[in-house]
Amino acid sequence: MATVKFKGSSPYTKEKPSAPAEDYIYNRYLEDLSLNIEGKEHPVIRVALFGIGRAGTIHLTSIIRHPRVKLAYIVDDMESKWKDVKRYWNLDDVIFLHSKNADKVYTDPNIEAIIVASPTFTHEEIVTKSLKAKKAVFCEKPIAKTRVNTMNCYEMAKQMKKPLFCAFNRRFDPSYEAVRNKVWKGEIGHVHVIKTISRDSPLPSIDYLKSSGGIFHDCMVHDIDMITWILGEYPIKVAVQAYAHIPEIQAINDFDTVVATFHFPSGTLGVIDLSRNSSLGYDQRLEAFGPKGMIYADNEQPIHCVKSYSNLDGLRTAPIWYSFASRYYNAYKREFEHFIEVVHGVTEPSVKPKEILAVNKITTACEESARTGKMVVINWAEGELP
Ligand SMILES: NC(=O)c1ccc[n+]([C@@H]2O[C@H](COP(=O)([O-])OP(=O)(O)OC[C@H]3O[C@@H](n4cnc5c(N)ncnc54)[C@H](O)[C@@H]3O)[C@@H](O)[C@H]2O)c1
Repeated sequence: MATVKFKGSSPYTKEKPSAPAEDYIYNRYLEDLSLNIEGKEHPVIRVALFGIGRAGTIHLTSIIRHPRVKLAYIVDDMESKWKDVKRYWNLDDVIFLHSKNADKVYTDPNIEAIIVASPTFTHEEIVTKSLKAKKAVFCEKPIAKTRVNTMNCYEMAKQMKKPLFCAFNRRFDPSYEAVRNKVWKGEIGHVHVIKTISRDSPLPSIDYLKSSGGIFHDCMVHDIDMITWILGEYPIKVAVQAYAHIPEIQAINDFDTVVATFHFPSGTLGVIDLSRNSSLGYDQRLEAFGPKGMIYADNEQPIHCVKSYSNLDGLRTAPIWYSFASRYYNAYKREFEHFIEVVHGVTEPSVKPKEILAVNKITTACEESARTGKMVVINWAEGELP
């Protein structure tokens, strides 16, 4: 009877609590359930998708599930794949093209947006041809091989008055977004140290790595974008160590393990710990530490609620997500939805050209530091930073 005094009135007599903001899936469900079209009555956008490999398949699912998007073309050079893709996804009314015939896409006035998920070395050409044809562009990172070429692409986007969106998917991850919000609210005060651990899984094929642009521009860009986006500042010094434990990666003059340190103007220090090959799954962690505490985004697990004990083996739970496709599943969907809002003119792209160019410059400085064994000072011109 000790708690009988706490008995309250019926919950039906009280105001219904609303879902917490953290349950972004339920809040989205409520939006869908409401069927409220106000402010969303936008026309259907016809799009073309370049590349249906690892990244392209993720974007294909986002395109298919979006009620305001219609896929008209798939451009992919592996013709042997076309029949199966068409059958699997029921894409009878989609036109499949080899990239040598991609002009059909650029000259089709009904195509408004192009999604680029082809190999890195093809991006710049597709981006520039798409922009010249007055199409909005969603491009997997990196947009072009060099910073100057990336800058030229953004210049062209400005001239053509069309959005050029660089797909930094981690920006749309709800956990990282929550970390940033807490940091910006001052929950831990001035950040003294920010750290990411980013270990790839499964190990990508050597064919992919050969055309990836290397671990710095293929992987580390994401982490550099994360720490600069969360801090809202850009480093002035970097010192990086890198090594290739895997002989096949060493043979292509790349690295599989990197540790980078950063010095920011406000005194914050940053650390990125990167690996191409994590046997425990896709290891993605982030931590910000300051005088008032610490904010940490841990690895996520599928089926995390099931725990088991067998004999004397101790506690067992599911492994962490295996790959980027599962770990960032929600981020990819939210990223694509954001892009479509940009094309509809509802919002501005949240990934800004100056941010992409700054991340590119820092990434190049990191590679230079690793290859020369020296600390690299980064000078920022007036107006160069966001
Ligand atoms: N943001 C992320 O999380 C993420 C993850 C993986 C890959 N990526 C990026 O996506 C891009 C593709 O990587 P991937 O892993 O999907 O590669 P992939 O090799 O799995 O797929 C590339 C596809 O593009 C096709 N292709 C080749 N040349 C083409 C051309 N000229 N036009 C159209 N299609 C062409 C290939 O046949 C293949 O199907 C890379 O730039 C990579 O950096 C980003």
